[in-house]
Amino acid sequence: MTQDAFAPATNEWYYPSEEIVRSAHVPDYEALYAEAQADPEAFWAKQAQALDWFQPWSQVLDQSNPPFYKWFVGGKTNIAYNALDRHAKSWRRNKEALIWEGEPGDRRTFSYWRLWKEVNKFANVLKSLGVKKGDRVTIYMGRIPELLMAMLACAKVGAVHSVVYGGFSEQALADRIEDAQSRVVLTCDGAWLRGSIVKLKDMVDEAVKRSPIVESVVVVKRTEQPIKMEQGRDYWFHDLMNLPIASEMCETEVMDAEDPLFILYTSGTTGKPKGILHTHGGYQVYTSTTLKWVFDIKDEDRWWCAADPGWITGHSYIVYSPLILGATSFMYEGAPNFPYPNRWWKMIEHYGITILYTAPTAIRGLMRFGDAWPNRHDLSSLRLLGSVGEPINPEAWRWFHKVIGKERCPIMDTWWQTETGGFMITPMPSVGLKPGSATRPFPGVEVDVVDEQGNPVPAGTDGNLVIKKPWPSMLRTIYGDPDRFKRQYWSAYEKQGWYLTGDSARKDEDGYVWIIGRNDDVIKVSGYRLGTAEIESGLVSHPAVAEAAAIGVPDEVRGNVIYAYCILRANFQGNETLREALKDHIRHEVGPIAVPTKIEFVDSLPKTRSGKIMRRVLKAQATGQPLGDTSTLEE
Ligand code: PRX
Repeated sequence: MTQDAFAPATNEWYYPSEEIVRSAHVPDYEALYAEAQADPEAFWAKQAQALDWFQPWSQVLDQSNPPFYKWFVGGKTNIAYNALDRHAKSWRRNKEALIWEGEPGDRRTFSYWRLWKEVNKFANVLKSLGVKKGDRVTIYMGRIPELLMAMLACAKVGAVHSVVYGGFSEQALADRIEDAQSRVVLTCDGAWLRGSIVKLKDMVDEAVKRSPIVESVVVVKRTEQPIKMEQGRDYWFHDLMNLPIASEMCETEVMDAEDPLFILYTSGTTGKPKGILHTHGGYQVYTSTTLKWVFDIKDEDRWWCAADPGWITGHSYIVYSPLILGATSFMYEGAPNFPYPNRWWKMIEHYGITILYTAPTAIRGLMRFGDAWPNRHDLSSLRLLGSVGEPINPEAWRWFHKVIGKERCPIMDTWWQTETGGFMITPMPSVGLKPGSATRPFPGVEVDVVDEQGNPVPAGTDGNLVIKKPWPSMLRTIYGDPDRFKRQYWSAYEKQGWYLTGDSARKDEDGYVWIIGRNDDVIKVSGYRLGTAEIESGLVSHPAVAEAAAIGVPDEVRGNVIYAYCILRANFQGNETLREALKDHIRHEVGPIAVPTKIEFVDSLPKTRSGKIMRRVLKAQATGQPLGDTSTLEE
């Protein structure tokens, strides 16, 4: 089922100034798109040459075994080399790589030289714990510089990192540790959020009880509340980093272009999270090219991607690509409105941030506090803005453009997914914008909106969004489950060999793409991706619940909120106490982000004759919409 989040005005245009077009890395999108279409492999080879390779590739793209595509076959590289080592040898060594501010107001800065040294030390620590090429390491940390270092240190030694977002609970963490079979977990005592401590280490202790595979836990000291350290298993990061083994020199492991770099778990249509696998070679080429052209990164910029490093946006555009480009990034630990709703604007003014990339939910949240908060600050350093994660409603777009960007800064509405690794449908600073549209595909990317048979649908009609050609940063598989990878993404249009995105979209008469939303059982809550099945299996794991259904219901600030419907087992009373107990249960089973706003106790759920829950019917009922076709409904 698809639903209009808003009624877009497809003829509302915004054009960049001449100055922006003139100075952009890509002043002419059409020409570049045509160049990539004419010879995609030559195009990607050219972009790959901007990076360092220990050994060049012999083939750009191997299509012999679809959908298991390979890029830069035979090439030897390491993304950490391109992100750090090469800058430590260049004039950039004393350039700021990372400027960080903690929620309490503390500040830290790392030059490329210093970050390189710290990562070398961390990599040596990992080696001393027995971490080798190909081993999986789970990282569960707050938004602190050590999170970045941990990821880069894994890459450096050839280990595969699996970062689990700090908003996930102990059970979700345990499931991900088990699936990846990680023997080492990197964490911190806690994280600051809205003036309180999120007790991450306590959560790790619980998770590790359920995942006996874990041998070592490294703990960064951040919030300093007392925690339990288990002898022989838990180590303080600062102790290890002070040992003689933590030398400042560490050889970077030579990796094959197709060797795995990381697993990132994301939600799909079953309760079991999918480990999306990305590799060193294609990912480094695609993320750095997209960041450079879309956000027009220059040496003098101060780039702020306000996402969490625990999600794909952070992996691609906080950690890896800005460093590959030698950019200066800013990172902030805490909540946007702490202690006051001007925190973000104050930091933009203080650090002279030039580019801000965030999510519609954050924009809508800050918009609610009114214009006076941003208007107190000098935001004239900003030159570009960006949005990601869900469709941005034109009202939020216009506010962002006017009140934050002062009508000077084009907004890059980037559509992409954990699976795609980088921006797929996105403007560049030189193109005309329409609020609410992610515009057109990135050069080298071919997308279409099609019906169930694969026929392109006419302009203005909803259809399935598909990607028609392989791209360098495409997911390579679902970790440990290649069949699911084939089934999930490649079976709907198997004959054509297209990738199914799971989104429904519409093209307008100018070829601009308008994303409508997910057309599978995925809910976007505040931009976070959750599966209905994850929430439902969390609910039925409570002794009171026999059956459950979860749906996403549109919400002005969060995009969607979760409504849950539960059929109780005999002898259980559906009352307020149980409702609160179920919310608490979900908080522990999945995480705070998955807690339903509303839980209703029901006697039956709408189902098809084959027993599938018809969430579409529940959603229509919850939003007061017509029920639609109910002919397949059992009762
Ligand atoms: O539905 C689309 C939505 O987010 C989904 C991917 O979620 P995730 O893998 O968590 O990655 C989010 C960050 C890249 C997509 O299938 N989405 C992402 N960006 C946009 C968007 N919807 C509309 N407009 C966007 N710019």
